[in-house]
Amino acid sequence: MTEIVVIGVGYVGLVTGSCFAEMGHHVTCIDIDQEKIEKLKEGNIPFYEPGLKELTERNQKEKRLEFSTDYKKVEKGDICFISVGTPEGEEGFCDLSQVKNAAISIAKHLKEEAVIVNKSTAPVGTVKMLKKLIQDHLEDKVSFDIVSCPEFLKEGSAIEDCMKPDRIIIGSDSERASRILHRLYSSFTFNHDRILIMDIESAELTKYASNAMLATRISFMNELSWVCEKVGANINEVRKGISADHRIGYHFLYAGAGYGGSCFPKDIRALIAMASTHECDTPLLKAVEEINEKQKKGLLKRVAHYFSNKGGIQGKTIAIWGLAFKPNTDDMREAPALTLIHSLLENGANLRLYDPIAMGNAKEILGNNPKVRFCVSEYQAAESADAIILVTEWKQFRFVNLHTVLSRMRGNAFFDGRNQYHPKEMAAKGFRYFGVGIPPSSTDLIRELRSIGEKKGRRYDGIRLKHDTSLLD
Ligand SMILES: NC(=O)c1ccc[n+]([C@@H]2O[C@H](COP(=O)([O-])OP(=O)(O)OC[C@H]3O[C@@H](n4cnc5c(N)ncnc54)[C@H](O)[C@@H]3O)[C@@H](O)[C@H]2O)c1
Repeated sequence: MTEIVVIGVGYVGLVTGSCFAEMGHHVTCIDIDQEKIEKLKEGNIPFYEPGLKELTERNQKEKRLEFSTDYKKVEKGDICFISVGTPEGEEGFCDLSQVKNAAISIAKHLKEEAVIVNKSTAPVGTVKMLKKLIQDHLEDKVSFDIVSCPEFLKEGSAIEDCMKPDRIIIGSDSERASRILHRLYSSFTFNHDRILIMDIESAELTKYASNAMLATRISFMNELSWVCEKVGANINEVRKGISADHRIGYHFLYAGAGYGGSCFPKDIRALIAMASTHECDTPLLKAVEEINEKQKKGLLKRVAHYFSNKGGIQGKTIAIWGLAFKPNTDDMREAPALTLIHSLLENGANLRLYDPIAMGNAKEILGNNPKVRFCVSEYQAAESADAIILVTEWKQFRFVNLHTVLSRMRGNAFFDGRNQYHPKEMAAKGFRYFGVGIPPSSTDLIRELRSIGEKKGRRYDGIRLKHDTSLLD
C-alpha cells in the first residue's frame, strides 16, 4: 500500500485517485474548490463518467479514498500527483498558473523522499521549472524527485482507460523515481508491461504529439469529406477502403462536425505556440486547427443553404440532438454544438435542444433564452421542427423510431453531423437527409440543382446538372 496524494479533483484527478484506491492504495484527493470537496464527501460526483460514482463510493466506504481542501495532507504522501487544469492562455499558450500554485502549496508540506508526478498536460520544460519552483518554496529542506507522467484517459471511458492503459509514459531523470512509479503502475499493466520510461522532455512532448496525431486524423477525414461532396464519392466508403490497410487502421477516422472538448483544441494550440517560441513553424498543425474551425461552421453553412430558398433560417425551428462534445460525457467544453447553437441563434432560429446527459451543463452555459427550449427527449425536441441536426452520436439516437420523429416534425430535413444513418433509408422514410461527405441521392441532387439552376436562369438535363455542383456553393 502506498500513501498517494492527488492534487486537483477534476476528470483526471478523480478518476486517477479512485483507480489507485481501487488497487488498494490509500488516496487523499485535494482541491481548492471547497464546494466540490464537500459534495464529494457526501458522495456527489461533479460530472458524469460511466462507473465513476460506484468506484468512488466503494473506495470511500472502504476508507481508501478521502477528500480534502487541506494541503497539510501532502505531509503523508509518498507520491503526490498534480492533475490540475492547464487551460488555454493568451495567444494559445498553455496557462500554467494552476500547476504553479499547486506546486508552491505542495512545497510547504512535502515529505522527505516524496515523488511528485505531473499528470497535467504541460509544455516541455514544465517539470524542470516546477522542480526549481518547489525547491525555492520548500519549508524544510527535504529531498524529492519530480517526474512527468502524462494522462491519456478519454472522457466517457476514463475508468477503463485508467485501469487498462494502452501505455504509461514516465519521463524521469531519477532511477529511484522511475523504479517507484514502475512498481506503482505495474499492477495496471499486469498482463504485459506497457510502461515506457524516457527522458522528461520526450514524455512531456508525447502527450501533445498524441493529441495532435488524433486531431490530424479527424481533420484529414473532414478535409477529404469536402472532396467527396464535390466529386460525388462517399466518405464512409472511402474510410472503409483506407482503413483496411493495417498501416492506417480503423480508429479515429470519422468525418463529422469537428473535434472539441477540453483537450484537443487547447493542446493543439499550445503545441503550435510552444513550437513558435523555439522558432519552429508547424504548418501541418495550423492546418489541422484551421480545418477544424471550418468544419465546425460547416453544419451551419449546410443548414443555411437548405433554407436559402425557403425563406432563410430566421424563424425556423431547429432541433439539435446531442450537445456534449462527445458521447458518454456531460462535458461541453469547446463542444461543436455550442458553435452551431450560437450561430443558429444569431441567424434567428428557434432551438429545441436535447442531450441524454449534458442538459444541466447546457442550461448553465446557455442560460435563459426565449429562443431556446430544453427538451426531455429526442422526440420532444423533434416536435414542430423544420429540421433536426444530430451533433453528438449518442448510441440511443441510432435506433430511434424515425417514423414517429418525422410525424412530429413540421419539415423533413435531417442533418446528420456524424454520419449515423444510411442516406437511402432516410430518404425512403421521407427525410431530406444530409450527411458529411456523403453526396445527396441523385434524385435529391437533381431536384435541388434544377430548382437552383432555374432561379439562376440556367436549364440543365440531369447529367450535366450532376456535374455542375458549383451551383451548390
Ligand atoms: N479531461 C480529460 O479528458 C483529460 C485527459 C488527459 C489529460 N488531461 C489533462 O489533465 C489536466 C486536468 O484536466 P481535467 O479535465 O481533470 O481538469 P478539470 O478542470 O476538470 O479539473 C481541475 C481541478 O483542479 C482544481 N485546482 C485548480 N487549481 C488547484 C490548486 N492550486 N490546488 C488544488 N486544486 C486545484 C480545480 O478546482 C479543478 O477541480 C489538464 O492538464 C488536462 O489537459 C485531461
